[in-house]
Amino acid sequence: PRPIYLSRHGESQYNVDDRVGGDSDLSALGEMYAEKLADFFYSEFPTKEIKNEIIFFTSTMRRAVHTSDVVAQKLEIQPLQLKTLDEINVGICDGMTYSEIAQKFPNDFQERKINKLGYRYPRGESYLDLISRIEPVIFEIERSRQPVMIIAHQAILRCLYAYFHQNEIPEVPTLDIPLHCVIKLTPAAYFCFEKRVLINP
Ligand code: G3H
Repeated sequence: PRPIYLSRHGESQYNVDDRVGGDSDLSALGEMYAEKLADFFYSEFPTKEIKNEIIFFTSTMRRAVHTSDVVAQKLEIQPLQLKTLDEINVGICDGMTYSEIAQKFPNDFQERKINKLGYRYPRGESYLDLISRIEPVIFEIERSRQPVMIIAHQAILRCLYAYFHQNEIPEVPTLDIPLHCVIKLTPAAYFCFEKRVLINP
């Protein structure tokens, strides 16, 4: 059985500031994570043949592309950048901290608290929207037999993880997908083996 590796991008400047949306680049710590992540993958895929088999997807956002480029250089392979894997679109809340959202849009903040799964940011997306957005990527992964490496974002990885791990849909928005951690899933007949590797940058 082939493994599926999921990782968020390294810490971004917006992660440091606790802001949502935007397209910020990696922080200094995030860059260090990218280097260590590259070392990790390098040792997971020891031969040239196996490296060339990897299906490597990332998003089109700076923090993910930058993280993926560091890994790509080390492994001498190319990631495919997919808009389908871009982080949840937070619409009118783009660039705000959660406390700014609570102040400026108290009703929305409350609504999301009550129904995080179905709440759609005005001019943005909901988790339910993401679940349908990522369907084509799931088809791609399912139809291949090669190892898969995905470097993306928290909300997106919650949806992907839930699919392979067979979580119930209402659980998706609160699944634990921390920064600086690789989740290795190995799908078996009726379940998935899981290993989490914390990488301290
Ligand atoms: O907004 C972007 C975050 O990665 C998703 O976080 O859905 O828990 O607010 P949240």
